[in-house]
Amino acid sequence: MIHYKSEPEIVLMRESALLVGKAIAAVAAVIRPGITTKELDKVAEDFIVSNNAKPSFKGYKGYPFATCISVNDAVVHGFPNDTPLKEGDLVSVDVGVYKNGFHGDSAYTFVIGDPGKAVLDLMAATKESLYKGIEKAHTANRIGDISFAIQDYTEKQRGYGVVRELVGHGLGRSLHEDPQVPNYGKRGSGGKLKEGMVIAIEPMINLGVKEVTYDEDGWTVRTMDRKPSAHYEHNVVIRRGKPDILSSFKEIEAAEKANVHLNSSYYHNPAPVSAAHA
Ligand code: MF3
Ligand code: CO
Repeated sequence: MIHYKSEPEIVLMRESALLVGKAIAAVAAVIRPGITTKELDKVAEDFIVSNNAKPSFKGYKGYPFATCISVNDAVVHGFPNDTPLKEGDLVSVDVGVYKNGFHGDSAYTFVIGDPGKAVLDLMAATKESLYKGIEKAHTANRIGDISFAIQDYTEKQRGYGVVRELVGHGLGRSLHEDPQVPNYGKRGSGGKLKEGMVIAIEPMINLGVKEVTYDEDGWTVRTMDRKPSAHYEHNVVIRRGKPDILSSFKEIEAAEKANVHLNSSYYHNPAPVSAAHA
């Protein structure tokens, strides 16, 4: 069942979604070689709690942390741990907050130092695919139009692997609501996009194969070929017929650019269309 949001509910959801961006920005400000992902998790959790909110993920189906921090070949749902980050690491930070009865849920992928062109291109293309999907979130379209846009840009045009096991989702009083929003699919397929729908769009894109494995912890999703994977997530409401992004990367991107340990050169480095699949 889809829960359509009213204008006052959208105001509250925007507040939750914006808070997530600020929490991820707080993490972006301190990422450096040598810091552990457990330390980053604490930074995010402290920030959320000090803003009178709760970390949505902690306790969700038994998930033990405030954040998911997925490094290199970890796709999503990585456990924060005691391994220090190092030069070249690709770090996806996924955060949820619950405030005023509504969840916000957003993710961003950072890289420490220089991971090489292939990874920078993957990051650029994954972030771009998120916006390609968002563009399609209007009332003349269906879920499959979002899905197709993401898959076409990343898999068909560039040859990356689009994860099938995990999908975007509706968002509201629950962290995961209907509808599901896959990052793969056919144009014009799926349910109609309607006024007041709030969805989390979250492409998970692998440099190599689309297949994934699960770690012994029961959560961490990893690429089967152990190549890196990127993940960006925004919350979007369909309002006045068009997509309105509730979350924001503004503070995150400012923190990313200000942090000398983080590489933001991929902004100006869009992935070229690969000849292999042209
Ligand atoms: N953004 C992720 C998702 O929507 C985060 C969920 S982690 C969990 O699936 F621990 F809360 F499950
Ligand atoms: Co999500």
